[in-house]
Amino acid sequence: MDRTRRLRANASLRSMIRENHIRKEELIYPVFAVEGKGLCNPVDSMPGICQYSIDRLPEELDRVLEAGVSAILLFGVPEHKDEIGSGAYDEHGIVQKAIRFIKSDERYRHLIVIADVCLCEYTSHGHCGLVKDGIILNDETLPLLARTAVSYAGAGADVIAPSDMMDKRVEAIRTALDENGFTQIPIMAYSAKFASAFYGPFRDAAHSAPGFGDRKTYQMDPANGREAMREVEQDILEGADIIIAKPAIGYMDIIRDIDRTFNIPIAAYNVSGEYAMVKAAAANGWIDEKKIVMEIMTGLKRAGAKMIITYHALDVARWIKEEK
Ligand code: PBG
Repeated sequence: MDRTRRLRANASLRSMIRENHIRKEELIYPVFAVEGKGLCNPVDSMPGICQYSIDRLPEELDRVLEAGVSAILLFGVPEHKDEIGSGAYDEHGIVQKAIRFIKSDERYRHLIVIADVCLCEYTSHGHCGLVKDGIILNDETLPLLARTAVSYAGAGADVIAPSDMMDKRVEAIRTALDENGFTQIPIMAYSAKFASAFYGPFRDAAHSAPGFGDRKTYQMDPANGREAMREVEQDILEGADIIIAKPAIGYMDIIRDIDRTFNIPIAAYNVSGEYAMVKAAAANGWIDEKKIVMEIMTGLKRAGAKMIITYHALDVARWIKEEK
């Protein structure tokens, strides 16, 4: 008789049978760099997360190293914003300076620095592209994204991660990187990125909420799974090396479909709102934070994620270590 309980009888058996594992090498931790000095500005809606000025970045980077996490996803919070998001491609922009700092320091230079490329943190209107008459322009935005990517690569970024959702931006960025000698810098494309309410806390962290309207004309409709496959297919054809699916928890079918359809590594982005919900419930004593987080991570791996971008990364890495 088939009895599935036989293989669950004790911890050793369960461990031998286990199909999916979380490895600290597959965790990516988002980091926010802010202009200024002496700053560690806590983000209220994301307990444990701060914006760090470059002089205080080492505190956060030391925690990353101590936890054994090897990759960070870098975001910048500039001092000034303008209509054309010039802070994104300014050679002395906040992200450029943060990357140069990390890459010039013996302790941190081996970290994988993934630079998020978008204009929304740098535009006065908060949109991810140029705006004219209330319309978010696509083709006019591409050269600015490409310029930003080249500038980050020049500063020393290891991976370029466009999150804007303009059509053809992967191609524009790949071409520009290649023309500037960065043929070996991979593109990690936010391909299946949905117009989601789960990004709310991030917009506090990055000061990037749109000043008018929403992002529905460029980010995807949460109802559309088949369309996500078109986005992924286009980005692969344009030269993406890794695909990001975002958000993660409510979108595990998307991760699964990408994994079954394409032969490319997938990163699941466990976003700010997902993090905030877990933290809030845990702070109230309503859930067991460690068990819930590990279960979410395992679920994402089971769905087909190779890497996981998560604000829980340092905790997860520590918990894995404790168990060994
Ligand atoms: C920038 C960007 C966003 C996130 C990552 N890159 C915000 C947005 O698209 O509004 C969200 C990350 C998170 O919620 O954790 N475009």
